[in-house]
Amino acid sequence: MYATGARKVEPASRGAVTGVAATCIRGGGGVLGLKGVVKSFGNLKAVGGVDLVVAPNRITGVIGPNGAGNTTLFNLIAGSLKPDAGEVVFDGRRLDGLSPDRIFRHGLARTFQIPRPFPGMTVLENAMLVPLDQTGERFWTNWTRPGRVAREERNARERAVEILGFCGLGDRLGHMAGTLSGGQQKLLELARVLMIDPKMILLDEPAAGVNPALMETLVDKILALHARGVTFLIIEHNMDLVMRICRPIVVMAEGRVIFEGDPDEIQRHPEVIDAYLGQAGA
Ligand SMILES: Nc1ncnc2c1ncn2[C@@H]1O[C@H](COP(=O)(O)OP(=O)(O)OP(=O)(O)O)[C@@H](O)[C@H]1O
Ligand SMILES: [Mg+2]
Repeated sequence: MYATGARKVEPASRGAVTGVAATCIRGGGGVLGLKGVVKSFGNLKAVGGVDLVVAPNRITGVIGPNGAGNTTLFNLIAGSLKPDAGEVVFDGRRLDGLSPDRIFRHGLARTFQIPRPFPGMTVLENAMLVPLDQTGERFWTNWTRPGRVAREERNARERAVEILGFCGLGDRLGHMAGTLSGGQQKLLELARVLMIDPKMILLDEPAAGVNPALMETLVDKILALHARGVTFLIIEHNMDLVMRICRPIVVMAEGRVIFEGDPDEIQRHPEVIDAYLGQAGA
């Protein structure tokens, strides 16, 4: 159903999304679609008209030089920034204009380039902070049905313990999050988003600052979740990781998608080598 072959994205085709892309954007089924998305900061067009279809049940990579607009793109998808123009649709719903919290509740979760745990809280408390639509959040029920609130808190705790165990943090539950290594903090970020059973996870540079052993753990977790049907969109400068697990790979440069294709096509493409791989390898 989804075109995955290499495709150079011609500027002329950016105005209107047609064919498969248009069907995907209108349809549901866990597809993420961006159409004509623009974001400027003053005179700088950080994202300059991006059309993109992210197919479900894939691990799609996003690569591009520093400043290409990768994180800005994630901020636009996840609701931290509102686009100046264009549409973001996920699973048949318009996302642009919704709050990050609403988007998260639609099952689209993101992690940050620089992890943001609450350092003075334990690893377990950090995972349990993720809102799970618990009854206890509403004052009235908290007062009238404390038994139910306590039961939900127990469930959240059990769920957090299970997920942190899956993420390799089972022996760190009572440690302060601020004492974790960079790689462990990335795993904690992953654990936190898993609390809501997301359909799609956006990972912003998951391998940055992570030692090789923990990176393998992270790769294992991504592949295991992917096998269970979670869709990933991953920004990453670590070409080893991208080439190993991402299909397709989207190449950004100066706020635009310049190419999309599988690893062998990406590595052969002169424009991509010029824009990025040449520099990365230099
Ligand atoms: N809030 C902001 N205000 C002003 N300029 C910004 C803002 N956020 C990003 N930019 C600029 O927009 C451009 C794209 O930034 P972005 O963070 O998306 O880059 P990136 O592709 O994620 O790069 P990196 O690989 O270094 O993380 C950069 O020139 C950046 O300085
Ligand atoms: Mg970034």
